Amino acid sequence: MTLERKSGCKVNLLLNILGKRADGFHELETVMHPVAVFDVLCFARHPGRVELTCNLPGLPTDSRNLVHRAATAFLKKAVIREGARIHLEKNIPLAAGLGGGSGNAAATLAGMNELFDHPLPPPQLEKIAADLGSDIPFFLQTKPALATGRGEKIQPLDNLRALHGAAFLLVHPGFGVSTPWAYQNLARFPAALNGTPGRARKLISLLQTADLELSAPEFYNSLEAPVLEKYPLLALFQEFLRENGAAATLMSGSGSTTFAVTGNTAAAQTLAEQIKGKFGATCWTAAVPAHSA
Ligand code: C5P
Repeated sequence: MTLERKSGCKVNLLLNILGKRADGFHELETVMHPVAVFDVLCFARHPGRVELTCNLPGLPTDSRNLVHRAATAFLKKAVIREGARIHLEKNIPLAAGLGGGSGNAAATLAGMNELFDHPLPPPQLEKIAADLGSDIPFFLQTKPALATGRGEKIQPLDNLRALHGAAFLLVHPGFGVSTPWAYQNLARFPAALNGTPGRARKLISLLQTADLELSAPEFYNSLEAPVLEKYPLLALFQEFLRENGAAATLMSGSGSTTFAVTGNTAAAQTLAEQIKGKFGATCWTAAVPAHSA
């Protein structure tokens, strides 16, 4: 039997870092929204161990890959002596702040659980997910969410009215940003490192009760401080997107993707053409409905 699963990505409408913790991670509050751009994973049971293949020749397929780690952790926890063959078809850019690898890991946990007839209950999958990476538990569910702690504590959100009918435009510059680098370099920006709690709740309340125009000024990302300083092109993207009608624009996660929110999908598609016209066709873009009610 072969099982196929899509694995999506996310943007952070807000990423407010509250300080550095004793364990080296950063305490944060973030509002994450799913984005309908997908990788595809195929799973089959296999008598050997975990064997991963991928359409991208440069991507490691051993234990450096989160898919491999997730499948191995699943088999260990479920005490299954069999292995699996997994193929990963990558469309989401790497090191992009879109959580593509985290989504792959979550889809692997859910896919493997289905492939082996559900030996693990959801809380055990959530525990493995949180141990593997801060963003992974978000992808075990499908709703926008408030995430706290180091990002692994998830509260799903309903009724983000301001995004009803809206669309996301993703703009990737063709290079990635290392997440550990972005967090380490926050140390030079004390205000960004020690954000005031409560901004996430304020944004959520606006998204649930007001419109996009009133919500937009509350979009915020602490990691822009180090990343936009090193890569000024990303600030130019935002300026251009704002000047050309984006209701909101921000860097997602630790970058390098910039996203814009527009009132509808046609506006996001037009903006995609404009940004490629201005900055060159090598920019990767995706314009998709936000699917939020
Ligand atoms: O949890 P994850 O593996 O995605 O984190 C990657 C890196 O990002 C961590 O090693 C750490 O340097 C940084 N990070 C952090 N605080 C967080 C999440 C990630 O410092 N809340």
